[in-house]
Amino acid sequence: MCGIFGYTGKKEAQGLVLEGLKHLEYRGYDSSGIAVLNGARHISVKKTDGKIRKLEEILKVHPLKGTTAIGHTRWATHGTPSPHNAHPHLDGESEIAVVHNGIIENYFDLKKTLEEEGIRFQSETDTEVIVHLVAKHYKGILENAVRRALKELRGTFAIAVMTSHESGKIVAAKLDSPLVLGLGKGENFLASDVSAVLTHTNRVIYLENGEMVTLTGEEFKITNFAGKAVSRKPVVIDWDVTRAQKGGFEHFMLKEIFEQPDILAAILKERVTGTRIHFDELKIPAAQLKRIKRILIIACGTAYHAGLTAKYIFEEFTDIPVSVDTSSEFRYRNAVIDKNTLLIAISQSGETADTLAGLREAKKKKALTLTLCNVLGSSLSREAKGVIYTHAGPEIAVASTKAYTAQLAVLYLLALYFAQIGAGSSKKITPALKEFMHIPVLMRKILDSYKRNESQWRDNAHDFSQRRKNAPNFFLYLGRHINYPNALEGALKLKEISYIPAEGYAAGEMKHGPIALIDENPWVICLAPKSKTYDKMISNIQEIRARSGCVIPIVTEGDEEIKKLNPIYIIQIPEVSEIFSPLLTVIPLQLIAYTMAREFGRDIDQPRNLAKSVTVE
Ligand code: M6R
Repeated sequence: MCGIFGYTGKKEAQGLVLEGLKHLEYRGYDSSGIAVLNGARHISVKKTDGKIRKLEEILKVHPLKGTTAIGHTRWATHGTPSPHNAHPHLDGESEIAVVHNGIIENYFDLKKTLEEEGIRFQSETDTEVIVHLVAKHYKGILENAVRRALKELRGTFAIAVMTSHESGKIVAAKLDSPLVLGLGKGENFLASDVSAVLTHTNRVIYLENGEMVTLTGEEFKITNFAGKAVSRKPVVIDWDVTRAQKGGFEHFMLKEIFEQPDILAAILKERVTGTRIHFDELKIPAAQLKRIKRILIIACGTAYHAGLTAKYIFEEFTDIPVSVDTSSEFRYRNAVIDKNTLLIAISQSGETADTLAGLREAKKKKALTLTLCNVLGSSLSREAKGVIYTHAGPEIAVASTKAYTAQLAVLYLLALYFAQIGAGSSKKITPALKEFMHIPVLMRKILDSYKRNESQWRDNAHDFSQRRKNAPNFFLYLGRHINYPNALEGALKLKEISYIPAEGYAAGEMKHGPIALIDENPWVICLAPKSKTYDKMISNIQEIRARSGCVIPIVTEGDEEIKKLNPIYIIQIPEVSEIFSPLLTVIPLQLIAYTMAREFGRDIDQPRNLAKSVTVE
């Protein structure tokens, strides 16, 4: 995790680096820092614990002048969040500065050797070994020193390095942590994520693993770690920067929830022509996909829940067996896969370390690999045989919402595409697409109803918070069949942004344990839209009510049955067939989490201890 940003050019660098870091703050926000190289060949550093706005306040009072700088926003791995552990780190003479994203696995041994050589360490971080190694090897040309230092490092890293001896120069290197160059006119940028450079340029180059770059305002030179020149053409990014701003919403999360209908409509417009589905960027020929005997999906967190839902979707539209695993479990299993397996890696960021490792494992075993991700040019998208982008636009809130529904939308279309190429029932395609086209309108209806009833939602959240003062209440989420993964997703969303304990369960599992938790305290969110398991959900609700449990059901409009069971609040969604219902039931779940977190005054877009992309194991 962590975000790094670098600038070299003719402008004052401090403001540009601060702005870049704000775009990367989702990657980590427990401390931050900046090093600026000025004309007098001196490196000045400011670091602090806390968020970037704290660094900004410090820099307002003590500005750093200079036109070359590197900055860092941290998610602590080694050493507590504190000013001395914040990056950039300096060598003993304060002549070299380093920022780092990743983990140096052999730092302990390196540190021991360096200490024996007389180096005094200032922090508890793994990163600090890098700066001392570069200093040790420095003989007047920074890139040579960095290259020699890299030979000694094991682990994952994206680093940026400057020295007071060479003005205007930044050297950066990448291994398994993302790094992108932004190419401007008379200025160049470095960042962990393309969204951080887009206000300045849309011409970018993604560094590959094992590559380094030497950057000045006028030029850049890419080589591999051995020093061999690499030539790579820039790509032009067409993301709209305004999509990464709040646009009048109180939080990015709320804005992103409200963007969902438009994103789904755009996905359908892009991928469906008449009754034909197409994935133009997919490099895997249809004939090869058709030969696949099974699909294995790997993902983490919310993306994993999209994978779980996909299993039901594929079972509905295709005849291909699907299994789903969390990437962190899959990568250490001795999974039986071969060239007839399609491994689908789902990831918003495309940088999740476990998912990347899982994909590599599958490649070793000769599986065909496909990445479904949101961030263009990300590591997963580059390493898989095929990629399908979800095109949800930049997702800034740490809690994933629009990326999830975009993943689901693409997975529905992918399943239907399999049916189209002969691996499923072609009869189902036209009616399914007809209904799917209407989903964005139905999503909008739910959001409009939330806006109309916002005060009621807030009152409910307030009621819960008042009750919580007297009793240790928490949330249970129950769902069945294709809405079971959404029960997990609802609980995850609530936990991560409101810090209220929550569990998601397959409702059929209630009797096997969780029912012991039921008394008048917990609130039980029951996903009960019209479906083939509706009657079973009614039974679950009755069982909860019989034990004085508080129920909030999510039902299909016009449901009279559940009203009779005296729920504390009913949330309605428009009528939709069961197979597409997760796209609707998830919206109230996102709004419940949002409203609760707001009631409890949480930092909704940047919840504690989390980071947007988990690039460490
Ligand atoms: O970028 P990815 O989709 O691979 O990220 C996976 C998870 O880290 C992510 O979904 C996480 O669980 C979110 N915070 C959920 O809101």
